[in-house]
Amino acid sequence: MALGVRRLSYGLGAEITGLDLRNPLDAATAAEIRKIWLENQVIVIRGQHITPAQQVDFGRHFGTLDDHKSLPFYRLQDHPEIFLITNKNVGGKPSETKDTGRLWHSDHSFTTHPTMASALYCREIPSVGGDTLFTNMYMAYDTLSDTLKRILDPLEAIHDITTYAPFRTRNQEQIAEMYRINPPVAQPVVRVHPETGRKALYVSEALTFRFVGMTEAESRGLLEYLWRHSIRPEFTYRHQWKVGDLLMWDNRCAMHMAPADYTPGEPRLMHRITILGTPSGRFYREEPAIKAAA
Ligand code: SIN
Repeated sequence: MALGVRRLSYGLGAEITGLDLRNPLDAATAAEIRKIWLENQVIVIRGQHITPAQQVDFGRHFGTLDDHKSLPFYRLQDHPEIFLITNKNVGGKPSETKDTGRLWHSDHSFTTHPTMASALYCREIPSVGGDTLFTNMYMAYDTLSDTLKRILDPLEAIHDITTYAPFRTRNQEQIAEMYRINPPVAQPVVRVHPETGRKALYVSEALTFRFVGMTEAESRGLLEYLWRHSIRPEFTYRHQWKVGDLLMWDNRCAMHMAPADYTPGEPRLMHRITILGTPSGRFYREEPAIKAAA
């Protein structure tokens, strides 16, 4: 069956129709989906009735899946590739993944192997809200002045998991371990997409701390401008979930966030798979001159 494609907003996002992911994907269809995804950065496939194994099979067409060793408690039993994002109890305890993604970010930019893609499958959604927002970081870059582009092109910024404020209320042992295995990383401020060759802005309010070679005070004004600029409404798409939606985004050129826009007692459950990316950035060594100047 031929695939249908309908753009979801000016900024990014496309719905693909004509797929029933209970059936195995053939290579030609997977290649067509990848092309649509690269062009639109976010794809939505609605009305699916898939098992965890079928979600994992879908993800494997696009790359190697993360087995979420770094947060083992929230893996689905028998399917370590599926990570639970939920406000429901997990293993009899309140879930700490309920506040995942409250600030704009690109997944795992605080590592030297940031995630290529993430795909959420919606299993339960509150009666109102529980949305996810996306923004187009190619557009964010393309709409800057040539002068600012020239300033930003050679810069790196430090991405640091410890700057992500919502983690501070989580289980302190788990968080200490996450901090230990994820030292600060310097990432390019402008990332060249390894498949499309296009430039995308790569800084986020959740994880970017300051520019390499500049103090925090010197960096703040420009970073704040870039955060605000990147989420101009015309660059964004807001997904209002329905149970059965499968949505996959490209972390190399899109950011996302999940606002707390629903009644806390109402269940929200997403099964997330994470497709590993290519190396980007480098472990960051402390700059003594910056420390002295700060
Ligand atoms: C995330 O991956 O940051 C969470 C997205 C969501 O729960 O909608």
